[in-house]
Amino acid sequence: MGVDRIWNVAEARRRARLRLPRVVFDYIDGDAEDGITHRRNTEDYNAVTFQPRTGNKVAHPSLVTEVFGTKVSMPVLLAPCGLTRVMHPDGTFGIARAAASRGTIQVLSTVAGNSPEDVAGASTAPKWFQLYASGGLNEAAEAMIDRARLSGYEALVVTMDTAVLGNRERDSRNGIQLGGKPSPAVLAKLLGQFAVKPRWSLSMAAPGIEFVKAAKAGRAAGAQAGVVGISGSPFSWDDVAAIRGRWPRRLVVKGLMTADDARRAVDAGADGIVVSNHGGRQLDGSPPTPRVLPAVVDAVGDSTVVMVDSGLRRGTHVVKALAMGAKVVFIGRAYLYGFAVGGQAGVERVLDVFRAEISRTMTLLGCQSVADLDRSWLDLSWLDPGRLQRPAPG
Ligand SMILES: Cc1cc2nc3c(=O)[nH]c(=O)nc-3n(C[C@H](O)[C@H](O)[C@H](O)COP(=O)(O)O)c2cc1C
Repeated sequence: MGVDRIWNVAEARRRARLRLPRVVFDYIDGDAEDGITHRRNTEDYNAVTFQPRTGNKVAHPSLVTEVFGTKVSMPVLLAPCGLTRVMHPDGTFGIARAAASRGTIQVLSTVAGNSPEDVAGASTAPKWFQLYASGGLNEAAEAMIDRARLSGYEALVVTMDTAVLGNRERDSRNGIQLGGKPSPAVLAKLLGQFAVKPRWSLSMAAPGIEFVKAAKAGRAAGAQAGVVGISGSPFSWDDVAAIRGRWPRRLVVKGLMTADDARRAVDAGADGIVVSNHGGRQLDGSPPTPRVLPAVVDAVGDSTVVMVDSGLRRGTHVVKALAMGAKVVFIGRAYLYGFAVGGQAGVERVLDVFRAEISRTMTLLGCQSVADLDRSWLDLSWLDPGRLQRPAPG
């Protein structure tokens, strides 16, 4: 379909829901348990309000940002997301190309479904690799780190919030288990879901068969036991320090929600951190990221690069996160909805929507450059603990 009708992320989501079989849409859109953290992420970005300055004559505000010495055209990176290979025939390569064409960075997930070598070859743009190593720095993780280094990834993003997989009840209802083999009954149910979405199913038949073959042959990244072992033994700060010893380039720790953990990450040698609750897919009841971001920035903002994700659906959310002190943000579901609808072009379209929204927001705010954003542009009284403790009306 023409992606030009995607005029915002909500519309991309609506169209993705129409196009995808339920099992795929639920995997993208779903969350842990009651989805409280998932919902509150976006609600709390909405709750922060601006303090605009009129009369500043802002025109064409600058969105260019530098992260670890790399210039990105805007402060929005593509979060690592699993199984992208089976969402659209453009596959993970389509996402890599979209990031390159829009001047930003894709963070390739360990479990995206394509190998780091193959995806690295898809574009000449700078790229980052995300590592799941829940069992610690075992042999499989070491091999993965070395492969990422040899393939030219510039930063390694170690995800810390996945000691076990979150309780994703929509996936359970559909009968899917990450890494597990579906039973004949589940397979029959899935075939029923595919049958009612013939356009998607036909387009995915060949790539789907390729993926199954690659996974069987162990060629699909993440197929190696040990790396995908998300529910392996607990992952500790010693493991991060050990990874630091093996990885010579920029090291980022993703999935932190407190100032204390941020300090530990810095002590373990991280060059950057991502404040993230995994988009509400892991610990339900984790705070929304805008609630903890200012405290984390206050604790470690001078010694490390602070990034944030979870719940960002609008340019206004991005501007608020930057004003709270994040250097760049990651978007997850927002670009996956676009990808599901239009592959590479869909991701590009979502990035264009974010660019236009950020640019318009900056102009209305009266701020000429994202580098000039700080907390003086926001009303953060919403963070006041007294207000949080007030009992709900009625
Ligand atoms: C379908 C899907 C798959 C994901 N897979 C991974 C992954 O493999 N590794 C990882 O670190 N985070 C993963 N995440 C979390 C994202 O990196 C990111 O933290 C989250 O999507 C941000 O929230 P948002 O979707 O509300 O933007 C995944 C998220 C989604 C939606």
